[in-house]
Amino acid sequence: MIIAIDGPAASGKGTLAKRLASHFGLPHLDTGLLYRAVARALLDFDHPLTDEKAAVRAAQALDRVHLDESRLRGREMGEAASVVAAIPAVRSALVDWQRAFARRPEGAVLDGRDIGTVICPDADVKIFVTATPEERARRRFRELAGRGEDVTLDAVLDDIRKRDARDSGRSTAPLVAAADARLLDTTTLDIEQAFKAAVAFVDGAGRDGAKAKS
Ligand code: CDP
Repeated sequence: MIIAIDGPAASGKGTLAKRLASHFGLPHLDTGLLYRAVARALLDFDHPLTDEKAAVRAAQALDRVHLDESRLRGREMGEAASVVAAIPAVRSALVDWQRAFARRPEGAVLDGRDIGTVICPDADVKIFVTATPEERARRRFRELAGRGEDVTLDAVLDDIRKRDARDSGRSTAPLVAAADARLLDTTTLDIEQAFKAAVAFVDGAGRDGAKAKS
């Protein structure tokens, strides 16, 4: 079973994807980490984020070792990732990797921006997770402040709006819900409520092979 989770920054899709993966006993890929890792590689070698050749080389060289979350989660990395993610050749360089992950015999949970539309258009279940920009900014602010980053709520809201505009406005694989995705607005839901709603979507999809571990 393939579960595709898409949505804008800080909508809760990552937490949801992890919980679903563990509940259904499936491997999980946070595809945002791939774009963050490409951006990280460029910054580490002092390449501009718009250097297409260097970005494609970095994308082709990616492996699990490069997906060390601790170096990829900071505030500026989300912004940098969305710049390299707008380069079509970077996106194509990452397609096979993501599809190979999804093609495991047991299936997989992938979360990102274009999983239901481009990477796994035949996914068994597609969920598009949203929340208002203000609520997403509050969540991201709490997360960053908890990691010791010196940020303000206003600056985070500004980042979120800019990133939404860039991710939705790009020409290749823009952030958009697949026509057959279930919408999950988490603005007023806590993690547990969002998780329950998502499990109901998956169970409702009525697919075989979804064996809950617990
Ligand atoms: O965690 P958050 O939602 O803030 O970001 P992320 O999922 O780690 O993604 C970081 C950036 O990578 C996004 O703003 C997108 O521009 C890009 N991305 C993408 O284009 N396609 C994906 N499948 C995943 C991420």
